[in-house]
Amino acid sequence: MLFSCFECARGLKVKDDKIFCTECGANYGRMDNGLIVFDDCLDKHSFFEKQAIQRLDRFYSRYDREQFMADLEKVNLWQMDEGNKRVGIAKKFWWEPYIGKIENKSILELGCGVNYIVPYFLECDNKVVAFDICRESVEYSKKILTAVGAKMENITYAVADAREARFPAEFDIVNISNVLHHIDDKAAVFERVHQALKPDGKLIIVEPNYYYPPRWIIETDVFDPLNFVKKYFVDNDLIEKGEKAIIFGRMIRQLKEAGFKIDVREKDDNYLGYFTVYWVKEMTAMAKAIFLADQRIFTKILPRVIAPFQYIVASK
Ligand SMILES: C[S@@+](CC[C@H](N)C(=O)[O-])C[C@H]1O[C@@H](n2cnc3c(N)ncnc32)[C@H](O)[C@@H]1O
Ligand SMILES: [Zn+2]
Repeated sequence: MLFSCFECARGLKVKDDKIFCTECGANYGRMDNGLIVFDDCLDKHSFFEKQAIQRLDRFYSRYDREQFMADLEKVNLWQMDEGNKRVGIAKKFWWEPYIGKIENKSILELGCGVNYIVPYFLECDNKVVAFDICRESVEYSKKILTAVGAKMENITYAVADAREARFPAEFDIVNISNVLHHIDDKAAVFERVHQALKPDGKLIIVEPNYYYPPRWIIETDVFDPLNFVKKYFVDNDLIEKGEKAIIFGRMIRQLKEAGFKIDVREKDDNYLGYFTVYWVKEMTAMAKAIFLADQRIFTKILPRVIAPFQYIVASK
């Protein structure tokens, strides 16, 4: 099994559906319906993510392989299919200009949620271990794989906490997409990810920027309790209570402290696009116009420090 003991770092074993360490005897969880389920995965996350899944259900209810293949062609924000747009994906395959297409590799997908990434990695003949603290997300992601005809023999799913789970150094790639802004103890995650990577492995990260103005307004505590916009977002489960996007200077420091070298740090240029994406329908003239305005105008006049996302590639 591709998880290590949290205490002694030996490989965990499964017997009679129990997950445990043969070396130190620690018990960690169980196999449930073919799924690896670690203990203590918090319900708070399940509640929040459940709301997100209900919203996704409308898009994915009749999803199939043909639709999936068509969606893979929709790369930029103005074209983006509803399912991926709703979970906050700004650029599909963003890593490819920097590290190329990821094929025939072993990948750890941390906080997998529900989106195009796991099915796409499987489509490219990778072996994937995907986990999330929220069981509903894991099960939903698995359901989509079946719908798109993915190679199920190459995926291992688990319900686990990224602050706790440990892995042997067997991964070429660790992908973290929009997860770290839900986790306070990022240092614990980076230490574990560093252990999980092979010596020449790559960590790839995309996260939202705290200083992107529309995000700052809904996340800052400065105007509490009079911040009605923030209240609307929290009350409607559009953001998690207390959620704070990333202050990148701080996170880069934590990555370096964990032993990482930063190879790439890129800022997303969908300034207006990312703000309007929730109201403007994809593949329309209006969506394209906003996208072009970002590319031709806003990216040239707005300071990069307020870009909506940053993309990072790091190595050991
Ligand atoms: C905004 S979603 C992003 C999901 C997906 N990676 C994506 O890009 O669409 C954040 C995900 O992180 C998961 N998550 C939050 N805290 C976690 C933790 N401590 N360990 C593992 N997953 C966690 C949530 O359950 C949720 O699925
Ligand atoms: Zn042990």
